[in-house]
Amino acid sequence: MNHEIEQVALRAARAAGRIHLKRLSRITINRKSNSIDLVTEADRESEAAIIEVIHRAFPTHAILAEESGASAHRSDHRWIIDPLDGTTNFAHGYPQFCVSIAYERRGRVQFGVVFDALKKECFIAQRGQGARLNGKPIRVSTTPNLGAALLCTGFAYDRRERRRFYLCFWEELMTRAQGVRRTGSAALDLAYVAAGRTDGFWEFGLRPWDVAAGAILVEEARGRVTNMDASELDLAGANIVATNGRLHDELIEAIARARPEADRRQAEMLSETKASA
Ligand code: IPD
Ligand code: CA
Ligand code: CA
Repeated sequence: MNHEIEQVALRAARAAGRIHLKRLSRITINRKSNSIDLVTEADRESEAAIIEVIHRAFPTHAILAEESGASAHRSDHRWIIDPLDGTTNFAHGYPQFCVSIAYERRGRVQFGVVFDALKKECFIAQRGQGARLNGKPIRVSTTPNLGAALLCTGFAYDRRERRRFYLCFWEELMTRAQGVRRTGSAALDLAYVAAGRTDGFWEFGLRPWDVAAGAILVEEARGRVTNMDASELDLAGANIVATNGRLHDELIEAIARARPEADRRQAEMLSETKASA
């Protein structure tokens, strides 16, 4: 079964990757709920291709996919799909996007693949079997503390309304870490922690399809993934911290330290907006 899951997931990821590359040169953009949340033909087409591959192999499995939502029926087996993570990058031709597919059995993710077709990098993890990049085992970094760390983060699509909140954490971490990056693809951000390219990642308000595959990659690469308060990661309300393990507590503590000021500045902004309305 595990081998079959891996084969099907890889087939689906490759099908999506081919569509990304084909569509990259002629992109059609539509806007979602607000002006900065985009959806392209590549998102829709690659999602359909992934679901077709999975359904052909496992017709009874449930699906949760970003563009088409959750399948109506329940099953112990569920696939969690982000057909194109990094859509804003993709729409601008910025080379940082991927497909992310996770397979969950009885509520626990067992397999994840994050595939960057442009760079031909395929990150996979099977529960208990470690993580690999293009077939070679990967491990998180050995960076010992925040001061020596390269961190990464992202901002959710409510970033205009909540900018003061998000920027407080950015400010705290850019002061304390060696460097902070914002790449625009949460799934790749997690894969890069797994591969030891960065040492830690945090982001508020992610969705299950952004993190399901990336989180198992980090765990299987011997890193640590939790909610922002260090509790067990809740995919549904993904406020996530993922690190090499060594600096996890320090990153959690830095985020907690910035929190009261973040809440205060955000409340201040809200009352300014109301006053000017
Ligand atoms: C987004 C990316 C981005 C993150 C956003 C996500 P999408 O996913 O992962 O890095 O900051 O929160 O929504 O929309 O490109 O699939
Ligand atoms: Ca995403
Ligand atoms: Ca997406």
